[in-house]
Amino acid sequence: MSKYIGVLTSGGDSPGLNAAIRGLSKAALNNYHIEVVGFKDGFRGLMENRFMKLDRSNLSGILTVGGTILGTSRDKPDKMPMGSGYADMTDIIVENYHKHHLEALVCIGGGGTQKNAYSLMKKGLNIITLPKTIDNDVAMTDMSFGFDTALGIAVEAIDRLHSTAHSHHRIIVVEIMGHQSGWLALGAGLSGGADVILIPEIPYDINKISDSILSRVKDGSNFSIVAVAEGALSKKTARKVNDYKQQIEKCKNKDELSKLKKQLKKCQGLQLGHSLKLARKIEEMTQLESRVTILGHLQRGGTPSAADRLLATRLGTACADYIKKGIFGVMVASKGESTVAVPLEKVAGKRKLVPPDHDWIKSARAVGTCLGD
Ligand code: F6P
Repeated sequence: MSKYIGVLTSGGDSPGLNAAIRGLSKAALNNYHIEVVGFKDGFRGLMENRFMKLDRSNLSGILTVGGTILGTSRDKPDKMPMGSGYADMTDIIVENYHKHHLEALVCIGGGGTQKNAYSLMKKGLNIITLPKTIDNDVAMTDMSFGFDTALGIAVEAIDRLHSTAHSHHRIIVVEIMGHQSGWLALGAGLSGGADVILIPEIPYDINKISDSILSRVKDGSNFSIVAVAEGALSKKTARKVNDYKQQIEKCKNKDELSKLKKQLKKCQGLQLGHSLKLARKIEEMTQLESRVTILGHLQRGGTPSAADRLLATRLGTACADYIKKGIFGVMVASKGESTVAVPLEKVAGKRKLVPPDHDWIKSARAVGTCLGD
């Protein structure tokens, strides 16, 4: 009798997803004669029982293709958008898993997916996950696939923006993805030679930014590139956000808790479009003409880099090996040249932030980059 495993991709799309689906499925089929069922659009497809069988015909030619052939969504099993509200659809998902007689379900995704996968594991399902995200902030893995491609795209953008900044003697603020973590902005800023890099982990002081730009002008460089992560925030806003977060942690009253959460959301919402406000403020303070470029979803699209294809293929094929050995409840993580199985409880609900003493931070400071602090 054939054995079956399921696979789904969840959360934002990311270069390398198809390479991972291919690696996992080919290894499962070729090495272990395990059949693979792909569920469409993340956990929603599993809940609605929408699926496709993955075989040679649809696995061929996808290694180099961006996005995911399975489709994706940010829908969560326990908070699924249903009609005008949300519903906990976990039981239906568990039922469908068993209906397909799955040996295991592979969930490919970022931090949110790891958390959702962990709750399904606690419902008794054999779960195994792979880390993907352009943000590179999944805990307990050296690297997540998608990051290298996005980094390349952001660096190319910074390189190109240098031409205009230099020729017009302008400041160009380039917004790079990353709401909670600054790996992408920091990596791209360092590789692209940005003069200022702002990340969520290091709240900024606008005076420090303008001082550093003005000191460049004094030294004869009347242009600057400011690489800013989506989630970068000023010291003042960071204090407010932290204050709300601390109150939320301590709060025991349900009504008060929902009020605090709304206030926090509002405060974080004010951050939307902050690059435009930041550019205006910098222009005011430095008297240098400023422009903004928001890279947005450009960073997630298109052909995955060689490094991402390699990582996704390594993790995908290793995943099939772990399944064969009956190792579940883990994320297949990259560790140096190798892969390791990390228990999901060590990953779920955690985020890999840029440590203040990280080598990339030290290097940025050493080459004179202003980090806004
Ligand atoms: O998590 C990946 C990511 O691209 C983040 O960098 C970004 O903040 C977010 O997704 C954007 O999400 P969406 O595509 O749902 O707007």
